[in-house]
Amino acid sequence: MTAENEVKKVSIGLIGVGRIGRLHAENIRYRIPNAELVAISDIDVLAAKAQADKLGVKNVGADYSKILTDETVQAVVICSSTDTHAKMIEEAAAAGKHIFCEKPIDHELSKIDRALAAVDRANVKLQIGFNRRFDKNFRRIREAISQGEIGQPRIVRITSRDPAPPSIDYIKVSGGLFLDMTIHDFDMARYLTGSEISSVYAVGAAKVNDEIASAGDIDTAVITLEFSNGMMGTIDNSRQCAYGYDQRVEVFGSAGAVRAENQLHNTTLVAKQDGIRAALPLDFFLDRYADSYLVEMTEFVDAVRNDKRPTVTGRDGRVPVLVALAAMKSMKDRRAVKISEIDTLASPFKTQGIHKLDL
Ligand SMILES: NC(=O)c1ccc[n+]([C@@H]2O[C@H](COP(=O)([O-])OP(=O)(O)OC[C@H]3O[C@@H](n4cnc5c(N)ncnc54)[C@H](O)[C@@H]3O)[C@@H](O)[C@H]2O)c1
Repeated sequence: MTAENEVKKVSIGLIGVGRIGRLHAENIRYRIPNAELVAISDIDVLAAKAQADKLGVKNVGADYSKILTDETVQAVVICSSTDTHAKMIEEAAAAGKHIFCEKPIDHELSKIDRALAAVDRANVKLQIGFNRRFDKNFRRIREAISQGEIGQPRIVRITSRDPAPPSIDYIKVSGGLFLDMTIHDFDMARYLTGSEISSVYAVGAAKVNDEIASAGDIDTAVITLEFSNGMMGTIDNSRQCAYGYDQRVEVFGSAGAVRAENQLHNTTLVAKQDGIRAALPLDFFLDRYADSYLVEMTEFVDAVRNDKRPTVTGRDGRVPVLVALAAMKSMKDRRAVKISEIDTLASPFKTQGIHKLDL
């Protein structure tokens, strides 16, 4: 291949090497041929150095702003804690970097809108880490719906239960179950139905442990959804599930239903006189959604290289936060809450009244 037609790799700086940052760093380094990991930053500089040494990355430090001023960096991948995302998005956009940012952008709408405005002004790409859209099973459900395979879709049912609750320290800064955990399910609901959620009714309680209640949070919830296109939906969540990580989805329509079951450790069935035993579901999100994390980053790199619209946009990052805030209000007021009650800022990023999403 000559230098002229050689396709350039996207050079990436990654911020935050915690659980999800390490996973993205390794995918970029080893599994995405069109990307190059050139810089790593974490306020825990020892963690940053350990990851950089492991992956052979030379540019490493505690201060992420060095990544933003590095002219060789084309895109940043933000994997630091949630409270840093909005500010980093604003600064990265101002520095002309394309941005992949983990969910959620922030818990406050005004901060989200400021970050999205900065991205618009700079005309850079922004993709938000709603990785479940890239799972092959959920993509197949979306395809079945959009191809009319189940006729007119009527009900979406999402079950999302974690194997065990996170630490109380995590719970305290998480923003609560709806903003931390259900946010993925709100995104899934929009993605599968191709419609905006118009109202929510949520009930929830702390059933798993008293410490969660003392931290002011819940660990068990059921949410009823209404969509702008007339569909209905339910989400049920638990922070604890005796048989592991339970991730199932069903969409029911006039001509049939389409369903994704759990992915199990293996597909072996042991049949005996007293019953048939299957393996447990894959342990947690890093295993269950491993493929989806790779596909989402590959598509982000492709969007940057080929000037395409990212698969999950800034607006897609904004709406599930709105829905989570509506669910919190609904639970508190014990009534259905319209999304329009929450989306009251004069914002160019509103999506109200949209019946068909551009997915
Ligand atoms: N998409 C998903 O499935 C998924 C899964 C897990 C976490 N997340 C999101 O990813 C983010 C990180 O979660 P995690 O579980 O990896 O957390 P974590 O606590 O394991 O890691 C966060 C890292 O960010 C670093 N950090 C904090 N502030 C920083 C700063 N100013 N500059 C540089 N580094 C900084 C911390 O030192 C830490 O190493 C959260 O927003 C979370 O919601 C998404």
